[in-house]
Amino acid sequence: MKKVFLLILFAAVISIPLYASAEQANTIDELVAPYDSSKCADCHEDIYKNAHESWHGKSIVDPRVLRTFRTFILSGLDKSQGKRRDLKDICLPCHAPMIQNASDALVNQVAELIVTAVDDIDTTKKAYAIKELSKLNINCLGCHNQKGSPDGNPAAKTIYAPGISTDEPPHKEEFGYETVKTDFLKKSEFCATCHHGCGDLPSSVCPTIYSSYKEKYLTHGGDKTCQQCHMQGNDAESHKFPGIYDVDFTKNAIDIKLDVTPSNVVHHLENKIVPAIVYNIQLTNTSGHGMPHG
Ligand code: HEC
Ligand code: HEC
Ligand code: HEC
Ligand code: HEC
Ligand code: HEC
Repeated sequence: MKKVFLLILFAAVISIPLYASAEQANTIDELVAPYDSSKCADCHEDIYKNAHESWHGKSIVDPRVLRTFRTFILSGLDKSQGKRRDLKDICLPCHAPMIQNASDALVNQVAELIVTAVDDIDTTKKAYAIKELSKLNINCLGCHNQKGSPDGNPAAKTIYAPGISTDEPPHKEEFGYETVKTDFLKKSEFCATCHHGCGDLPSSVCPTIYSSYKEKYLTHGGDKTCQQCHMQGNDAESHKFPGIYDVDFTKNAIDIKLDVTPSNVVHHLENKIVPAIVYNIQLTNTSGHGMPHG
């Protein structure tokens, strides 16, 4: 009996690392399969299009991001004690949240693809690298699963939703996904999972858009959430996530008060009094944080 027990214990011990390594994906396709969001487009076509075209939809293949990642790899990691696999913990958790399940070998492969996507002179190789990397952009399940659970511990095959629809979503019947309704998606703390990423540190130590929002906006009477400003409009509009590159949206961010009073000044050279105008310009930042930021 004891022997059987020991055997079971032994089996359990060796199966833990085996299980853990089985969880680690070795190819990009294995990595993205559990977060495949293409089916969401079947029923949420407009949201899909807008989310895909937003900055979130190019969170890794945005050329600015790719170039900075490339420089960080070649001039940072490669020239210091760093290892390319460190990208998994340093840069990729927010730009490509799926990376958390990647093996070290796969993280190295992603790093190589980033360098190829920016530097390779062969345009076919470059295009292929960008195509592969684009599978890692933030997608529906990046927010509605990976970052969407209030306890930071999302369940598999689950859609975290704000609880807006009056109809019960048919996710379970149609493709076997649970729908969990949670207020977390309506809170600024949800956005902070990527737009902050440094716990309770104040903006003096960790100047992020979230710390700026908390210290410069909330404490001065601001009462809107990130979503109330950035996810307005009807269903589909909500997923465009306009920011500083959206001219109309940014126009909302500055209140200009112009006060003009006629006056006189002494013209010293000619020693006479001439008419003049006094401008009193008051600029107020009405966005929810410092500007520009990023
Ligand atoms: C905690 C999450 C997080 C981590 C970790 C992170 N980023 Fe970002 N990054 C963001 C967010 C959110 C934005 C959009 C911010 C904005 O526009 O205010 C961004 C924007 C960027 C941009 C575009 C900036 C611009 O407007 O030109 C670049 C480039 C970038 N990140 C590179 C990196 C690199 C390189 C690393 C690793 C050294 C990294 N990021 C790590 C969340 C993160
Ligand atoms: C950057 C994070 C993010 C991404 C990416 C994202 N969502 Fe959302 N989504 C949210 C948040 C946050 C809410 C809740 C907004 C609120 O209640 O103010 C939401 C709300 C929704 C709603 C409720 C109705 C509505 O429009 O507000 C639907 C449906 C939805 N998302 C579907 C999707 C689909 C489908 C995708 C992929 C194409 C997607 N979302 C991508 C964050 C995201
Ligand atoms: C077979 C059609 C179908 C598919 C596929 C589908 N949905 Fe939905 N979903 C609906 C319907 C119908 C509703 C309820 C009406 C509405 O809000 O659009 C809904 C509602 C939602 C909501 C809002 C629920 C709430 O109460 O806040 C979210 C979030 C959501 N879906 C996300 C997703 C994501 C993410 C995917 C892909 C993984 C997806 N859906 C795939 C049909 C679908
Ligand atoms: C999974 C991580 C993640 C989450 C969650 C997330 N973001 Fe982002 N967001 C990013 C990254 C990364 C970028 C930068 C992409 C780029 O520049 O290519 C970005 C870009 C943006 C931009 C465009 C910035 C610009 O320069 O114009 C806005 C606006 C934005 N996010 C708002 C939000 C809001 C509001 C929420 C919460 C409802 C949210 N994000 C949730 C990661 C995230
Ligand atoms: C009162 C409305 C309001 C609130 C609240 C708000 N924003 Fe903004 N946000 C704006 C406006 C307007 C802009 C464009 C002008 C600017 O850059 O400030 C903007 C710009 C941004 C940008 C692009 C910044 C840049 O300069 O590159 C990001 C990213 C962003 N917001 C994320 C967030 C997040 C995350 C939150 C919550 C922590 C939030 N915002 C809260 C109105 C708001």
